[in-house]
Amino acid sequence: MDFELKSLDLAAAAGFPCDALAVLVPDSFKAGKDPVSTLVDQARKAGDFESKAGKLLAVYKAPGVAARRLILVAAGDGSPRQMRLALAAAAVALKGPNIQRAGLALPADAPADAARMALQAVADATYVYTTTKPKADARKLGKLTLLSPAAADLQAAFAHGKAAVAGIELAKEWGNRPGNHATPSKLAEAAKALARQSRISCEVLGPREVAKLGMGSFMAVAQGSDEPLRFVVLHYAGAAKSAAPVVLVGKGITFDTGGISIKPAPEMDEMKFDMCGAASVLGVFRALGELKPAINVVGLIPTCENMPDGKAVKPGDVVTSMSGQTIEILNTDAEGRLILCDALTFAERFKPCAVVDIATLTGACVIALGGVRSGLFASDDALAQSLQAAGERTQDLCWRMPLDDDYAEGLNSHFADVANVAGRAGGSITAAKFLQKFAAKYPWAHLDIAGTAWKSGAAKGATGRPVGLLLEYLVHEAGRNAAATKPAVVRKGKAKV
Ligand code: BES
Ligand code: MN
Ligand code: ZN
Repeated sequence: MDFELKSLDLAAAAGFPCDALAVLVPDSFKAGKDPVSTLVDQARKAGDFESKAGKLLAVYKAPGVAARRLILVAAGDGSPRQMRLALAAAAVALKGPNIQRAGLALPADAPADAARMALQAVADATYVYTTTKPKADARKLGKLTLLSPAAADLQAAFAHGKAAVAGIELAKEWGNRPGNHATPSKLAEAAKALARQSRISCEVLGPREVAKLGMGSFMAVAQGSDEPLRFVVLHYAGAAKSAAPVVLVGKGITFDTGGISIKPAPEMDEMKFDMCGAASVLGVFRALGELKPAINVVGLIPTCENMPDGKAVKPGDVVTSMSGQTIEILNTDAEGRLILCDALTFAERFKPCAVVDIATLTGACVIALGGVRSGLFASDDALAQSLQAAGERTQDLCWRMPLDDDYAEGLNSHFADVANVAGRAGGSITAAKFLQKFAAKYPWAHLDIAGTAWKSGAAKGATGRPVGLLLEYLVHEAGRNAAATKPAVVRKGKAKV
């Protein structure tokens, strides 16, 4: 889908030719003398257009309006949440039949973030998965034009939005692909393809290299599968070589049967989504390649299947992780932490300023937070705050969970340094406590996206979360670094020392 940004006020927007024009009408809307204002004014006075964010009023061939359909969209107080609700409703309307070209008019006082959110909302509502369903009705909307009287102020957010959409759609694509179409090798090939973008490079390790590194925990999960494991290392070089990178680590279990601790049959198909953490890392790199922020980022993806087999790892087996810590695998279905822990040790070599792992890690997190917020765990308060704030700004929400050491007590093992499971209580936290044992050498955060990475039921499919959150976090960090390294003279002698 194509996006365009045009500087037009509401009077000019009325003359913009397209199949459908959605106009956001916030509480603060001040009616001018243009045809759309007149309609808003009349409809409000008559009580036909409610002001609650997301309420719509559609008009066909409205007088003085070039678009065939005009859709007035109440936008409430303009807060991020109300903006999200309004844009989601507008996006559904723009998905209507026979709409190839659409316009979306933002109010003059809209925050710049609204431009980014608008692109994401329309892309999200019109997305169609076709790879293994080629006869599905493809996306009809070919072009969306954002209209604003202050387009110049929205340019950066617009570019960010375009990049975010490309990244989110890549993450959705790989998340949605069935396990047999998204094997570890295929996922690694997708990572390699990203290296065609400038500033991105990619290296893929196979079983031999991983064995040489001593990743005994990762190898134990992969040993029950006929599909060979892959370990993907992506680099995005946007800043000076000397600048410490942010490392993103994505869980890439391309199918999770549970292994010998096998899962029950109902909904097991959804375990093809167990690589959504990995897909989000691919999505972020896709977006970085397009947006080119001034920051260094490393992406690590341990990827394999978790299968039951004569060669599979068994409950009670003890393996040695790359960190040297031995692990008693009491439940082979707690495999995500087993592949992530070796990647977290590998991350040390980059001397990172922060490491964020992203994983569909625990069913317990779905119980705790549902599908609204991802679970956020962090050993570093500043990092936690940065991630949570990025989530609020993008409305790709997360919520911080505790990491008290008392939660780690259940991980004690009679036969190894650590067990891979504790009791059922606090399952998302004990999983995070396990990971923390391998992430002591840098500021670390963990996003448990088990509840947010995909939707079940009628709208079954990957969401592309948390690409939006992560990209916003990285762009914000890039901005902060740039401000911090600006020479003092530029600040007209007022620089603090
Ligand atoms: N991939 C699952 C987590 C999951 C389950 C995500 C359901 C979304 C929905 C993970 O590998 C897993 O199986 N975790 C176990 C851990 C348990 C054995 C301690 C779980 O959550 O049941
Ligand atoms: Mn599992
Ligand atoms: Zn899993």
